[in-house]
Amino acid sequence: MISTATAMAAPTITYLLFFMIFILIMLHAQIFCIEASSDEDKKLHVVYMGQAPSQDNGHSYTTAVALHLDMLESVHGSREAAEDSLKYSYWKSFGGFAAMLSSSHAQQLSNMDGVVSVFESKEVQLLTTRSWDFVGFPASAQNNNLGYQSDIIIGVIDTGIWPESESFSDTGFGPVPSKWKGGCHTTADFPACNKKLVGAKFYRTLPYPAPSFDFLSPRDLFGHGTHTSSTAAGNHIKNASLYGIAKGDSRGGVPGARIAMYKVCWVALIAPACSYADILAAFDDAIDDSVDIISISLGSNIALNYFEDVIAIGAFHAMKKGILVSNSAGNSGPNKGSVVNSSPWSLTVAASTIDRKMESELLLGNNISIQGLSINTYTMEQPWYPLVYGGDVANISGGFNSSYSSICEPGSLDSTKVKGKIVLCYYYPDEPDDSVYSAGGAGVIIILDSLNDTAFTWFNPATVISSKQGELVFSYINSARSPIAKIQKTTTPKISAPIVASFSSRGYNPITLEILKPDITAPGVDILASWPSKTPLTYYTEETRYPDFNIISGTSMSCPHAAGAVGFIKSYHNDWSPAAIKSALMTTAFVMDPTLVGNGDAEFGYGAGQINPLMAIDPGLVYDANVDDYINLLCTEGYNDTTLRLVTGDSSSCDFIEPSKIGARKLNYPSIMVFTALEKSFQAEFPRTVTNVGVAKSTYKAILSAPSGINVTVEPDTLSFTSLNQKLSFNVTIEGGSIVSETLLSGALTWSYANYTVRSPITIYAI
Ligand SMILES: *[C@@H]1O[C@H](CO)[C@@H](O)[C@H](O)[C@H]1NC(C)=O
Ligand SMILES: *[C@@H]1O[C@H](CO)[C@@H](O)[C@H](O)[C@H]1NC(C)=O
Ligand SMILES: *[C@@H]1O[C@H](CO)[C@@H](O)[C@H](O)[C@H]1NC(C)=O
Ligand SMILES: *[C@@H]1O[C@H](CO)[C@@H](O)[C@H](O)[C@H]1NC(C)=O
Ligand SMILES: *[C@@H]1O[C@H](CO)[C@@H](O)[C@H](O)[C@H]1NC(C)=O
Ligand SMILES: *[C@@H]1O[C@H](CO)[C@@H](O)[C@H](O)[C@H]1NC(C)=O
Ligand SMILES: *[C@@H]1O[C@H](CO)[C@@H](O)[C@H](O)[C@H]1NC(C)=O
Ligand SMILES: *[C@@H]1O[C@H](CO)[C@@H](O)[C@H](O)[C@H]1NC(C)=O
Ligand SMILES: *[C@@H]1O[C@H](CO)[C@@H](O)[C@H](O)[C@H]1NC(C)=O
Repeated sequence: MISTATAMAAPTITYLLFFMIFILIMLHAQIFCIEASSDEDKKLHVVYMGQAPSQDNGHSYTTAVALHLDMLESVHGSREAAEDSLKYSYWKSFGGFAAMLSSSHAQQLSNMDGVVSVFESKEVQLLTTRSWDFVGFPASAQNNNLGYQSDIIIGVIDTGIWPESESFSDTGFGPVPSKWKGGCHTTADFPACNKKLVGAKFYRTLPYPAPSFDFLSPRDLFGHGTHTSSTAAGNHIKNASLYGIAKGDSRGGVPGARIAMYKVCWVALIAPACSYADILAAFDDAIDDSVDIISISLGSNIALNYFEDVIAIGAFHAMKKGILVSNSAGNSGPNKGSVVNSSPWSLTVAASTIDRKMESELLLGNNISIQGLSINTYTMEQPWYPLVYGGDVANISGGFNSSYSSICEPGSLDSTKVKGKIVLCYYYPDEPDDSVYSAGGAGVIIILDSLNDTAFTWFNPATVISSKQGELVFSYINSARSPIAKIQKTTTPKISAPIVASFSSRGYNPITLEILKPDITAPGVDILASWPSKTPLTYYTEETRYPDFNIISGTSMSCPHAAGAVGFIKSYHNDWSPAAIKSALMTTAFVMDPTLVGNGDAEFGYGAGQINPLMAIDPGLVYDANVDDYINLLCTEGYNDTTLRLVTGDSSSCDFIEPSKIGARKLNYPSIMVFTALEKSFQAEFPRTVTNVGVAKSTYKAILSAPSGINVTVEPDTLSFTSLNQKLSFNVTIEGGSIVSETLLSGALTWSYANYTVRSPITIYAI
């Protein structure tokens, strides 16, 4: 079992990390940057070889390994060295392998026949009760088709799962669907899967952490995977809360569906680490195991080219098998162009708020009440506590002055002046509550202006206030003889929502400029979901809180909401392609208000809007796309025939496709994106085709909303269908004059018939 004492030996670092995971301070990125690269150093590399040969033609694990060893032998010079270096052979869903290679050997391999790309196996990061009701998706609607949901299997690639959680109990579940080919990697600490949790495997090539740090099994030490799995497809549980906070029912998007966990992230000293090589191995299995959907709440710090990005590669081969991959947009917002996981064939999910704020009231002795933000599970016992400012109570003899103690740096506080008191500190990424706790303080007030939309859990009674609110506290401290204060337990008042979280990564899409990303947004702020019962709330050795539910934030939390919605659509339309399902979600999304504070980045923040699962099961029309359509896009992105044939495994050819910068406009995408240069007038054409999945005889009319100064036309502007599955095409033309400064303009094309509205955002970015 976990010993927090061993796992969390360095509370300061690990707690910082905990904070880091969900708001993504870029420490990790810096670690990558300062990494020295020496030719002599062997590093784990992924050699990606595109489509695997068909198993029907005698292709097997053995033939794959033999091929990979031959290739490795030709660079290493001996079979033995080849065998030593090979870590994985991918062979089921795509071809390739992971091996320890020097950069010169990696270079040699990249020139070999059959190789698409060779890249170092780096690491990626991990990026409710109310949340489903908030998106207009009540439990009653889910329960209407629980029977159909039971055929759906959601694959989750994450930190593992806590199988004993009520969210994954199989009470009431029928037999495992017969299509299921996956397995359960049982160990002493992970005895079995069940009819709800139908599969669980783990993948670990990392040289660290030491096995004692994490369960060498699919069991979840960190909590992230248990949380995301229960959000996607956890059972409906009544009376869930975090010590009474956010009390209500907890349920996944498709409570009747099954879950398969693929554990690829491992608790390490710095942060949970998930290696590219392991992620690809998980995709190789999950696709072949016949999951219906993959939810992956992981991502790199920056967007990568599609065939050097393991999540894009995995999602591509999943798409070919009809599996839609829901992936997180990233937690590097609000900078423009920060979105990751932006492949056109995946669903890229931003994070937004729900209508519930985690408010922890700060009461001052002069009766002033300040609405702070935090997840404070404590009820402070005394009516009042003495209040001091960290800057006034430096441990002078310890060598600290007020510069350190104002931000409550570790060790900087004088314990004789802090004991039993509430301390006011400016935020500094070294957990003010650690030093306050060490000095014997009773609670902490943290001044922080960024991230004012997301609440965090602290080790002490704590609340976070703005510097403006801080002025009230300072003036009280400076005027009162013996200032006193109290921090109240968190309450959850209603607020206006949805607003895109400040941490949620924003478009534009840096890899394909004219495919709008993110695609959609879903709840990802202060989300309550299941938690392993042996994982503490914070990573202090003295932590005593071990809840069954936890409230955390990130695009990690929104991604499984979208995956759950995908599962819900699939339970009605098992035959829809990944593109059709994505289209249904995007064109029926709840339209967000760009004038609300936080939504100023418009579509770059929320894509088509907030998911609306109930509407998405009956979208009227869908924008469909298949493998060939994505191949055409890749041709225009400069991939050549040789590479593409490897990726697709057939004789795809770019011969008839003119490479052009505007090729992405031809992809039948449910959104429209123009990327244009400043001070140049522009004209952009978007051919589109919709498939009728609504009413056989139906006539849709185009409703255009054009940004001012821009002409948008659609030809024809009426689509008359006579049968289901009929396809009709149209062209959208967008013309604009010269734009002089960086501008983001928003409009929309909506096809309307009876109660159907099929809306595509039109986004124009001039830079
Ligand atoms: C709900 O949970 C709380 C604690 O989380 C408990 O005190 C209470 O008794 C529960 N209520 C019901 C009806 O089960
Ligand atoms: C605070 O409010 C209470 C009750 O409303 C009142 O009795 C008390 O005098 C007030 N104290 C100050 C300092 O205003
Ligand atoms: C001040 O810091 C020193 C050095 O860390 C420590 O030994 C001492 O206990 C601290 N004093 C107080 C009063 O907190
Ligand atoms: C505190 O000490 C640091 C380094 O010794 C110094 O740079 C800083 O100016 C000092 N601050 C104050 C308020 O004296
Ligand atoms: C949060 O911060 C943003 C940007 O600094 C600001 O515009 C907004 O008003 C703040 N919101 C609250 C509730 O303080
Ligand atoms: C295709 O691209 C690969 C890798 O960039 C290159 O080695 C090869 O020569 C190209 N083939 C053609 C036909 O352009
Ligand atoms: C769209 O425009 C292209 C040429 O730009 C034309 O060939 C095609 O027929 C048009 N499609 C429709 C449906 O009007
Ligand atoms: C938009 O259309 C109007 C009317 O046809 C025309 O006068 C104007 O020049 C067009 N604007 C642009 C930017 O093309
Ligand atoms: C639209 O109306 C039809 C017929 O009344 C109904 O069957 C369908 O469910 C409705 N669809 C939506 C999206 O409301």
